[in-house]
Amino acid sequence: MAGVKRAGIVSVGSAVPDGVLTNFDLEKMVDTSDEWIRTMTGIVERRIASENEATSDFALKAARVALDRAGLEPKDIDLIILATFTGDSPLPATACLVQNALGCENTPAFDLAAGCSGFVYALSAANAFVRSGSYKRVLVIGADLVTKVTNWSDRATCILFGDGAGAAVVAPVDEGAGFLAFELGADGSGAHALNIPTGGSRSPLTSEDIEAHRDKIFMEGREVFKFAVKIQGEATERVLAKCGMTTADVDLIVPHQANTRIIESAVNRLGLPPDRFFVNLQKYGNTSAGSIPIALDEAVGEGKIKKGDTVVTVGFGAGLTWAASVMKWAF
Ligand code: ACO
Repeated sequence: MAGVKRAGIVSVGSAVPDGVLTNFDLEKMVDTSDEWIRTMTGIVERRIASENEATSDFALKAARVALDRAGLEPKDIDLIILATFTGDSPLPATACLVQNALGCENTPAFDLAAGCSGFVYALSAANAFVRSGSYKRVLVIGADLVTKVTNWSDRATCILFGDGAGAAVVAPVDEGAGFLAFELGADGSGAHALNIPTGGSRSPLTSEDIEAHRDKIFMEGREVFKFAVKIQGEATERVLAKCGMTTADVDLIVPHQANTRIIESAVNRLGLPPDRFFVNLQKYGNTSAGSIPIALDEAVGEGKIKKGDTVVTVGFGAGLTWAASVMKWAF
């Protein structure tokens, strides 16, 4: 598209709850151990929201940081996309609550559901809106309070998740910067492997469901693990190929923060040194759609991403879905 500026991320921000739940805390709740959790997942602790905190609270905080850093006012935002599967309530879209709280009068706002791939799906949508000229500045948020839908009696899942939010402003960027390629995918035949079984139109919630924790996350851990290991490497290779690059061109990969063993498999497959992968899951666990934007924000804060760097994000999650992007960092 000659003459059309590329879109890119022009600022990032994040917000997590103050509450900390350690592996030792979990030892008191289910039959597990700090050693098992560290060895099998790499997680040491995760953030946990309080009873009266909701997803929009953290989405809002992260968004304010991102707007502030971009030097933008709420009125400058033309569209808000919030990736989440733990909205404040099923209706309305939580993006509308964030829109109102920010003071973005009449700005269109919608939620996007793609599990842990949600933030990169949302970046891709934002890129398309900006490139087409439909909207100039898009606020993209990934936010989930996964502990609100965690089955605390299931030791195989309750140790994995945490709460948090990250945000990015996507806007036209200078020559040479911005998004180079996206790779999105879904395989609905794997929907059964990671879901919340009830509470939707197929199976409205009953008191028996609540008793049996069918309103909480169910996961076939091994199946999701195998899928994740395969798709993370494949999606990274495919998105790089789309812009004529190889892993040798990459400065930093920011993967979905689910499990260090899954990230290590990508280290081996892609043949890059481990320090080219940003990892912070030891502090947060898997925050679903919050994971990649929180990691991007921390990587920038730690000086691991600098202007001009080639950065890959890659996520996978419920759906089953996957999403990867390649960008030249713009600031
Ligand atoms: N503490 C101690 N033992 C445990 C625990 C625990 N917390 N959880 C499970 N075990 C036991 C199991 O009971 C099993 O025991 P058994 O051999 O006696 O039956 C043994 O450990 C192995 O269990 P598996 O579930 O087979 O172990 P696995 O190697 O698959 O690791 C894990 C489990 C860590 C959950 C892994 O499957 C995983 O990370 N899966 C991917 C999860 C993921 O990334 N999901 C996020 C997707 S993103 C989204 O959209 C939300």
